[in-house]
Amino acid sequence: MKAIVVTDQASGTAGMKLVERPEPQAATNDVVVQVHASGFTWDELTWPPTWTDRLDRDRTPSIPGHELAGVVTVLGYGTTGLSVGQRVFGLTDWTRDGTLAEYVAVEARNLAPLPGDVDFTVGASLPMPGLTAWQGLFEHGRLHAGQSVLAHGAAGVVGSMVIQLAREAGAYVIGTGRAADRQAVLDFGAQEFVDLENDALEDVGPVDLVFDVFGGDFGKRSAAQIRAGGTLVTIAGPTEARLANGLAVDFVVESDRAQLGEIVQRVRDGRLRTNIGTVSTLDDAVAALNPTKRRKGKTIIRVRP
Ligand SMILES: NC(=O)c1ccc[n+]([C@@H]2O[C@H](COP(=O)([O-])OP(=O)(O)OC[C@H]3O[C@@H](n4cnc5c(N)ncnc54)[C@H](OP(=O)(O)O)[C@@H]3O)[C@@H](O)[C@H]2O)c1
Repeated sequence: MKAIVVTDQASGTAGMKLVERPEPQAATNDVVVQVHASGFTWDELTWPPTWTDRLDRDRTPSIPGHELAGVVTVLGYGTTGLSVGQRVFGLTDWTRDGTLAEYVAVEARNLAPLPGDVDFTVGASLPMPGLTAWQGLFEHGRLHAGQSVLAHGAAGVVGSMVIQLAREAGAYVIGTGRAADRQAVLDFGAQEFVDLENDALEDVGPVDLVFDVFGGDFGKRSAAQIRAGGTLVTIAGPTEARLANGLAVDFVVESDRAQLGEIVQRVRDGRLRTNIGTVSTLDDAVAALNPTKRRKGKTIIRVRP
């Protein structure tokens, strides 16, 4: 099969190559999926599991990409809830070969049915940002109607989902970003915009929940804007922020069949808009994943045109 591989971290996306690789086999609990569309997160080559397996052993050349939409071709022993020929979408294991390939082996529990009226390109764009926003807001952030949310990087792939899901849940949403992102953030449904290049973050709060995609100094400064009992949720790695009266949580998204179903239903009935920037073929993927202009939105590789 054709696949994109990476062999050394220092080269980043510039080191990606389109090569021939053996088709994967379904281990216990796996299905094999013929990938129709694959989603890539722009900084995933900086993640340690891109390079090593669960025992920290080198697994290069590795195939990146952890979101997919496609069709099940093989059922491994012990799989439940899926059938051969079924359209599916979901998120794959960080420590195994990913979805920038014609086929991928993935645990069945990481996949959900993709309704026939949802395009594969859209399906592949939903798992990472949709599940991350959902889990950050509702599981870790315990968000409920009437609360306020400060959503960082709100024009971005995750941030734009955070705004929309938080608004639908009845929250008041303040989105942040660069000056040029103002209209995009308001169009995704934020009631207010904070221009991080010109406005003072310190003038914002207090809010009930900060959804942080940056980490570092932003995380610590944002913690000061949270009211007593509130929550700082970050997806940018371990946080050192501490709240005197509240919770600071960092987490890594997990696949969840039921949540994928909730997310795709919202896309079908127009409550949720996905944020796709570039769509490319597998043959042109290396160029698409090395853009010469500022990248906006999710990059989707349409593996089967
Ligand atoms: N822990 C998890 O489970 C998890 C899950 C998903 C994603 N992530 C991580 O979350 C991060 C965000 O992912 P994403 O896909 O949403 O990225 P993205 O689409 O690039 O979104 C980030 C947004 O923040 C903006 N931004 C960056 N630095 C800024 C600054 N200093 N001031 C103002 N705006 C700034 C970006 O603008 P520019 O494009 O102009 O820089 C962009 O609009 C990534 O590091 C990703 O790896 C973690």
